[in-house]
Amino acid sequence: MHVLILGGDGYLGWPTAMYFSKRGYDVTVVDNYFRRNACLELDVGMLYPVPTLIERAKIWYELTGKEIKVLIADLTEPEIIRSLFDGRVTYSWALKKEFTGLPETVVHYAEQPSAPYSLIDYRYANITVQNNLLVTNNLMWGLRDFSRDTHVIHIGTMGEYGTPNIDIPEGWIEIEHKGRKDKFLFPRQASSLYHTTKIMDTDLMWFGVRMWDLRVTDLMQGPVYGIETEESVIDERLRTIFNYDEIFGTIVNRFIVQALVDYPLTVYGRGGQTRGYLNINDTLQCVKMSEKTPATKGELRIFNQIMETFSANELAEKVQRVGQNLGYDVRIDHLENPRKEAEEHYYNPTYQGLGEIGVKPHYLTDEVLEGMMHVVERFKENMRRDVIFRGIKWG
Ligand SMILES: NC(=O)c1ccc[n+]([C@@H]2O[C@H](COP(=O)([O-])OP(=O)(O)OC[C@H]3O[C@@H](n4cnc5c(N)ncnc54)[C@H](O)[C@@H]3O)[C@@H](O)[C@H]2O)c1
Repeated sequence: MHVLILGGDGYLGWPTAMYFSKRGYDVTVVDNYFRRNACLELDVGMLYPVPTLIERAKIWYELTGKEIKVLIADLTEPEIIRSLFDGRVTYSWALKKEFTGLPETVVHYAEQPSAPYSLIDYRYANITVQNNLLVTNNLMWGLRDFSRDTHVIHIGTMGEYGTPNIDIPEGWIEIEHKGRKDKFLFPRQASSLYHTTKIMDTDLMWFGVRMWDLRVTDLMQGPVYGIETEESVIDERLRTIFNYDEIFGTIVNRFIVQALVDYPLTVYGRGGQTRGYLNINDTLQCVKMSEKTPATKGELRIFNQIMETFSANELAEKVQRVGQNLGYDVRIDHLENPRKEAEEHYYNPTYQGLGEIGVKPHYLTDEVLEGMMHVVERFKENMRRDVIFRGIKWG
């Protein structure tokens, strides 16, 4: 089986590549270092240096004897994606240069993934819209023209739904209107421009499913936390990238670093913002289980990829408690909210589908937080207080 991972250098992409490779899949990864370059350009740093994607593939090969083929290229270029399906691809690194063949599965992570980035100003808004929509559209046309049986696993986001005042189903809703019924995508109202591009991704793929019988699983993922996975513990050079800045750091990862450098945990406004969260190891499980039980032809299958929900206040209190037990003086600060969002709201998403196909959740326990703090505190010298908060405004 061949898995093609778009965005294979990223926080989730590289652990996914190792995960499938270890389980005997042929794996190809593609990335253009968008994320690394954005971190350099915006000077937000990362917790520790990470070898390039090619270096990591070589390290993985030396340690396991397994090959992960690498292509460093920009997926907004249609010919790049098409070359991965019609065999013209020239790998940037591979032991065997010949084409692996059509992928049974494409895991699509290759997007600009940050809400604050998309709202810095109109230039970053443009980059986000162009990058995310072009990659998804190019992928869809590549599949249409060369490989309609390939199953796409796209990572969407729970942020597509926003925070409606009604329960959130897994993607679809049946509506009765003037005595007639039909099934539609649940109304989406994103909380940022980035999240809006994810809605548009879903719409693009839904079009491809309706027109060309493509097979798509869209995983509406919540913010991910975590650092180590089963494969990265073999050698620390295989550890995934880790951001703790306002732009690219997800909330739990950020709070952990803040706790360690005596930077009060930055809760925005009243802190009642509630979201669904998951451990990075569960992202891998969810993608694997989706791959094992693919969507059928002409199906857009949607799962809500979260394991539990917390408010920002609850997360801050957890991190504070665990940090204090380790001897850190952790304070919580309620900042004026730079974002435009409800600070208290109803939130009741369904998230059963992934459990039904075999995913076993890991929860955010004190032990998990403590484990993360122990890994992260080794890099205390690298932590920069100036990147933690700069208050990119939504309004
Ligand atoms: N991490 C989370 O908490 C989270 C939560 C919900 C959804 N998601 C979604 O999951 C996906 C992966 O997120 P992540 O946290 O790993 O982000 P990431 O930025 O670490 O990974 C995305 C990767 O795609 C690459 N990429 C972007 N545009 C590209 C292009 N045009 N050509 C080639 N490569 C390109 C980037 O360089 C990066 O390595 C994203 O689509 C994101 O929207 C992430």
